Amino acid sequence: MSPEDQIPRLRDLRIKIFSDGADLDSIIDAYQAGLVKGFTTNPTLMAKAGITHYLTFAREVLRVVTDLPVSLEVFDDEFDEMYRQAHILNDLAPNVYVKIPITNTKAESAIPLIAKLSGEGLKLNITAIMTLAQVRDVFEVLPDDAKAFISVFAGRIADSGRDPVPIMQEALDVLRPKPGAELLWASPREALNILQAEWIGCPIITVTPDVLKKAQLFGKDLDEFSLETVKMFYNDAKKSGFRI
Ligand code: E4P
Repeated sequence: MSPEDQIPRLRDLRIKIFSDGADLDSIIDAYQAGLVKGFTTNPTLMAKAGITHYLTFAREVLRVVTDLPVSLEVFDDEFDEMYRQAHILNDLAPNVYVKIPITNTKAESAIPLIAKLSGEGLKLNITAIMTLAQVRDVFEVLPDDAKAFISVFAGRIADSGRDPVPIMQEALDVLRPKPGAELLWASPREALNILQAEWIGCPIITVTPDVLKKAQLFGKDLDEFSLETVKMFYNDAKKSGFRI
């Protein structure tokens, strides 16, 4: 068996791949392609996509995606207002997971709000988590039968110069006693992160369409890949009319 044969193909992975973005056409394409098992977005992605009407966008997504989890994020600095927004988002459809940031912008903990909403039975996606202490705090307050995604931003952890893999492994251990609280590998930076998440048994990763596209290359023959790269350089130099 060649080393290429040992690299799993996307379709053979156990990990659930979610699509992260705010472009409706990409969401529809990903949904119809059938590879992804859920969708996430956030206010920054929505702003970049030029969305001006939050609820209109949310309803459009939920009209298309009716049978897979869709995470929609609250945005406010007051926890009472976040609570109100959470219920409005939750009431849009049964497949909504309400995204709650782990703190507000004043670094005040959202743990009491998370406890209240999950106690009321809302499905949550706790977002912007970067430390194991935050994972433990969330774990403590989730009911035993809670349905929640615990989004640890592995890519941002890596951006800070730390290896996210041991942190994600420990997060899995923390969450293990409550199987409905699933660790979500957020903010991947490259296709290999999908395999790293798979290898440690992380149940979910959310990826942008560009990272997902690269992951279609898993197992590609490297001689073939090298030749394609050489041809790309050659053709672009020719097209540009470069001379030395
Ligand atoms: C997850 O739900 C987030 O939307 C996403 O992964 C954030 O990624 P970033 O760190 O690239 O902003």
